[in-house]
Amino acid sequence: MGGNAIAVHDIEQALMGTSLGVDMQRGVPVRGGHRHHLKVINTIRRCGSIAQAVEQGVLSHGVLYECVRNGVPFALAGSIRDDGPLPDTQMDLIQAQTDYARLLEGADLILMLSSMLHSIGVGNMTPSGVKMVCVDINPAVVTKLSDRGSVESIGVVTDVGLFLSLLLQQLERLTNPYGVAQTV
Ligand SMILES: NC(=O)c1ccc[n+]([C@@H]2O[C@H](COP(=O)([O-])OP(=O)(O)OC[C@H]3O[C@@H](n4cnc5c(N)ncnc54)[C@H](O)[C@@H]3O)[C@@H](O)[C@H]2O)c1
Repeated sequence: MGGNAIAVHDIEQALMGTSLGVDMQRGVPVRGGHRHHLKVINTIRRCGSIAQAVEQGVLSHGVLYECVRNGVPFALAGSIRDDGPLPDTQMDLIQAQTDYARLLEGADLILMLSSMLHSIGVGNMTPSGVKMVCVDINPAVVTKLSDRGSVESIGVVTDVGLFLSLLLQQLERLTNPYGVAQTV
């Protein structure tokens, strides 16, 4: 669950190597990069959807690519500030809330990663007893989440990239505790 932004930034990085025109390897703006996010939105619109872009071989890596390839359902809730938006972004917010509610059903742990908007939205829709872990670099965001009634949430104030790389390490340790090289 996320907004137009996560998908646009992810797809821009996959297709152009930039995020909002900034080279993700070198950390510097590239010439004409300000157009990149609109270019990739139009590319996906021409394909029909994110899933069709994957099927047509236009999108070949990234978060959304992995979701499509591995059958992980996603819902993108739109907002008035969205660029485009992408064809998959749901601009009818009542429908977007319904989509979120469907995906949240039965969840017993929710990871909320650096989005105040979507973390608080999801927190408000989640019944008590569900564990929530909110990762944000701004301590005010994790406090705001619990102040708004999501008292079960655990706040982790850190950089989301650091959190994800440590999470990956721990998951790898769980699935391969002795660090034995995997053979295929
Ligand atoms: N392209 C588009 O259509 C579009 C649409 C909406 C938003 N956006 C952009 O997407 C981004 C996120 O949107 P949002 O609606 O989720 O915004 P948001 O303000 O709700 O949440 C962003 C959160 O990220 C946190 N953050 C920033 N850097 C971090 C880091 N390194 N580690 C952990 N947390 C960090 C901030 O503290 C903030 O709480 C913004 O940059 C926004 O401008 C783009």
